[in-house]
Amino acid sequence: MDYQRDQKQLIQWYKKNRRALPWRKNKDPYRIWLSEVMLQQTTVVAVIPYFEKFLKNFPTVQDLASAPEHDVLEAWAGLGYYSRARNLHKAAKALAENGFPKKAAELLELPGFGPYTSRAVASIAFGEKVGVLDGNVIRVLSRRYGLKIEWWNNKGRQQLQEISDTLSSFGNSDSVNQGLMELGATVCTPQKVMCLMCPWSADCVSREKNLVEKLPLKKPRKQSEVWVWKPVVTVKNGKVALVSNDYAPFLKGQMIFPGTISQNDDKPKDYDAKHNITHHDIFIKIAHKKTLSDRNVEWVEIKNLKKVNPSSLLQKVLHKVET
Ligand code: ADE
Repeated sequence: MDYQRDQKQLIQWYKKNRRALPWRKNKDPYRIWLSEVMLQQTTVVAVIPYFEKFLKNFPTVQDLASAPEHDVLEAWAGLGYYSRARNLHKAAKALAENGFPKKAAELLELPGFGPYTSRAVASIAFGEKVGVLDGNVIRVLSRRYGLKIEWWNNKGRQQLQEISDTLSSFGNSDSVNQGLMELGATVCTPQKVMCLMCPWSADCVSREKNLVEKLPLKKPRKQSEVWVWKPVVTVKNGKVALVSNDYAPFLKGQMIFPGTISQNDDKPKDYDAKHNITHHDIFIKIAHKKTLSDRNVEWVEIKNLKKVNPSSLLQKVLHKVET
């Protein structure tokens, strides 16, 4: 396999076709880091306004480090996964003090920096020759090389990581990695693949073997579990009482209604609504309680509910209570 040739074709394509995105304006590691963390939870189009607003509030890593946590979470509101914002803030404090390490291995030590983020920042901001691996890259590489790899296992991931690293080993790792992401986001997409736009179409193994739709392999679905959730919904002056979720196995760490939950063998007969989140089949039985027990509730404006927790689960429950 001529990986070096592939690398050349990829960066040529990327340089010609890359979108003008705000985090591509310069090599500021802070901006690049912020964009990568935000992009882990949603699409480019959705991230752009948050990215701009966040940078306006906290233009440098020092500004972020010295900001009160509340302000950081507020600027994050709507992106979900507040633990990411908290980690971002924690890491900013370390970075403001000690500066930005330039190697993925060192970045990996910081709060919230996993293998993906560490490698993305080290390659894009500092040109370290390390490859990234995320869902887009897994799809592009599996298809290009016709790999029936179980990417959800350590061994499979490792194999793909090595290919990604090889492509970056020839240099220009910034363009290689962003090229792979861009290809996955705009051409080699999950559906409606646009092979005619792809720099690798002539040599693409899955295209040749008619496997494009079959690759990457599908992760086996976990057996779904039946859960009965009894949320306590308390509405007062246009606000609802929420708690940080430390009790339900879905939407962990996010703000949800207080309540109780139990796993069932079978579907219950009597419930008010039903909702699915990954392998959790949630049967909702609204608990009508007049008083809240003394948990750490937070009162959230109903109109901000979607911002605080983007899952439609809370809206669904609230809607049931209101009708
Ligand atoms: N997704 C994750 N990182 C990205 C980047 N730097 N550009 C475009 N899409 C991305």
